[in-house]
This record gives sequence, C-alpha cells and structure tokens, in this order.
Amino acid sequence: MRWYPLSIVDLAALGESFTRDPYPVYAKLRAQGPVHRIRMPEGGAQAWLVVGHEEGRAALADPRLSKDWGRASPALPLGAVSSGPHMLRADPPDHTRLRRLVAREFTPRRVDGLAPRVQETTDALLDRMLAAPDGRADLVEALSFPLPISVICELLGVPDLDRESFRTWSNDALGATDAERRKAAATSMARFIGELVDGKRERPGQDLLSALIHGSDETGDRLSHEELVGMAWLLLVAGHETTVNLISNGVLALLTHPDQLAALRADFSLIDTAVEEMLRYDGPVETPTFRFTTEPVTIGGTVIPAGGELVLVAIADANRDPARFASPDRFDISRDARGHVAFGHGIHYCLGAPLARLEARVAIRSLLERCPDLALDIHPAAIGWRAGMLIRGPRSLPVRFGA
Ligand code: HEM
Repeated sequence: MRWYPLSIVDLAALGESFTRDPYPVYAKLRAQGPVHRIRMPEGGAQAWLVVGHEEGRAALADPRLSKDWGRASPALPLGAVSSGPHMLRADPPDHTRLRRLVAREFTPRRVDGLAPRVQETTDALLDRMLAAPDGRADLVEALSFPLPISVICELLGVPDLDRESFRTWSNDALGATDAERRKAAATSMARFIGELVDGKRERPGQDLLSALIHGSDETGDRLSHEELVGMAWLLLVAGHETTVNLISNGVLALLTHPDQLAALRADFSLIDTAVEEMLRYDGPVETPTFRFTTEPVTIGGTVIPAGGELVLVAIADANRDPARFASPDRFDISRDARGHVAFGHGIHYCLGAPLARLEARVAIRSLLERCPDLALDIHPAAIGWRAGMLIRGPRSLPVRFGA
C-alpha cells in the first residue's frame, strides 16, 4: 500500500498541448496506476486524479468523497464562489431533498414537451446561419451555443436574459484562472438570479422556475429563496456550459471521421447511438465537479488521506479505458457506447441528460440535413480549446457549407 505516489504530476507545465488533447496524458497515467497526485493547470491547486473506468466510476459514487465545499481542506486555494446552495455541492440528506424537489418538476414529460421548441429554435438558427453569403460560419456562435441557452431559458422562463453578460459570467465562474474573477462573476450571477426569483414570485408563469417557487411536495417541503437561487444558477450554468460542447465536439468528431459522417448521413436512425458515442469519445465534461475526502480512501493500493483532500475523476479517461471499451480511441458511431460516464454516475448523475440528448440529436441531425456539404474551415490542430479541466470544447468551430 502506498501513502503517496512518488511525484506530483504538474499538468500546468504541459501547457496548451494538454488542453488541446488531454487523452494521451491520461492514458499514460492510467498505465502507471489509477491514482495520481497532480497540480491543476488552473489556479495551481494540488489534487488527486483518478483515472480508469472501474476506479473512476466507483469514485463518482463513493460516499466518502463529499461534494460539500465546507469539507474542503482550508489549505486548498479554491476561491469561494457564492451561488447559493445547490445539489452539486451537497451530500445526503441535503442532496436527496434538493434533488427530490426539482426532479418532481423537471420530469421527462416537461422535457418531451420542449421537443417542438428545440426543433423550431434549431431551424431558425440554421436559417440564419445558412443566409451567410460566404457560406461560412462559426458553429459555436451559430448553433452550439445559442440552442442550449435558448432552451434552458425557455424551460426556466427567462425570456429576456442578457445573454452576453450571462455567458461571460458563466464562463468566468467556471473557467477563469483568476479566483477574484471567478468570485466576481458568480456574485453578479447570484444577484441577477435573485432578482429573477423575486420577479417570478410576484408574476408566476408555466415555467420550471415558477413551479419550483410555488410548488411543494406531499410533506409541504419547498425550496428556500437561497436554494432557489442556487438551483436556478446550477440549471442555467449546466444549460450554458455542457450541451454546447456536446454539439461542437460531436460535429467535430464527424467532420474529422468522414466514414462515420457518411454512415450517419446514409442512415439517420443511427443518431441515437451516434450521440452516445460522441458523449463517450469526446464528451463535454473532462473531470466533473470537486470531491473532498472525509476519511482515508484507498484506490488501487494508494491511500488518499482524509481531511478534505481534493479528488478529481477523469471521466474523459474512464470513457477511453480499453478495459471497458474496445479500441477506445476509435470514433465509431455504430458501437455500443453504453456504460460511458459522460453524465456522471451515482446520486449526482446528470439531471439534464434527457434534455441534452434531445438537443444534440435534433441539432446534429438538422445541421447535416440542411448542409450536405458541411466541412471544417480550419485545420483541426489550429482549433483553440476552452481552458480548464472541467469543460472540454472548442472556443470556436469554423465551418463551410457552400454558398
Ligand atoms: C451534454 C450535456 C451534459 C453533460 C455532459 C452533463 C454532465 C454532467 C455530469 C458529469 C454531472 C455529474 C457531476 C459530478 O458528479 O460531479 C452532471 C450533473 C448535473 N447536471 Fe448535467 N450535463 C449535461 C447537461 C445538463 C443540462 C442540460 C442540465 C439542466 C438543464 C444539467 C443539469 C445537471 C444537474 C442539475 C446536475 C446535478 C445533479 C445532482 O447533483 O444530483 N446537465 N451533469
């Protein structure tokens, strides 16, 4: 049994190349064992990284790894971000209660009910994109970003969101390397959402946020103002930061694998398995949100000490583990990608997974149908990627679709 691996892997020192393509780095670490001491590229905090499918999946559901930031070691330079209490920062029983109160409103029926709007919004965005006289667009700006944010705003009932400000805050709150900037962004967002909740309290609509404000469960339990702010924050950020990259990374994978693109074009009934493969092969979340040890946790013979040590699970690597997926670095839309952990695992499994799948299927299928000549308008190696280990996706994705 090892108390500490021998050395700290300084991911910051790898620079841009790690951001562009982290998979070979994770694979190399996995070959050495499932747990590594790392220095994170952003902020420089030291953490424990879990790689591999079996160990990663187990860590995601391990109750000894707390999601409560109050359990974090005071030595960690995390930069407290105020957003209101929410599920991804809570353990049972608080987590159980928060999830129950939202799950009874955020139902498959509500998601199914959004399907026509997802299609209409996609069609309108593609109309605008295809009107460009030079037959070129940045797919992130034209489709991947505006679709999920429109849908999440529709779901929550936020018609007049100042999207540019919100996008900057959201990007900064999650990805800014500077802790002060992260904090300022989260504070601005919390203030904006607080006002939104107050407005809905006075003038409720048919939307999810109104249902959360005015609804209560069988026992009369309901969310407090702070919890509503935290919940709306979580849903808006999840709506901003994740599905956008499923669409972009998915389209990029297709455009760089012409045989797979041709197979999908020839048979659109493959869209469901194709989206699962996109989630597995290059999903939007590289290492999900922070976990902290509440007691010593032994993984693969390495003991991660108690005391709020920061633990990151590389789900990007779990999804490329050859012990779970044959030829994992091959993008193959006909494979059975089930068992991927792109949406997490255990009690924090993504609440928005059905919505994300719906949006990706509609967006990607409609894009391909409307653009028979779609092609990349940039060399793949020149694509700039989002910073940070949480979210993986291109900052922009230039495409050509013929004038
Ligand atoms: C492709 C898009 C998406 C991906 C890859 C994704 C991924 C994830 C992952 C990995 C987790 C677990 C995090 C952890 O355990 O640390 C999670 C949780 C969550 N996601 Fe998503 N997500 C996506 C879209 C969405 C959308 C559209 C929504 C809401 C509308 C959403 C809402 C949530 C919520 C509320 C949680 C917390 C659940 C809990 O703590 O019980 N996600 N997501």
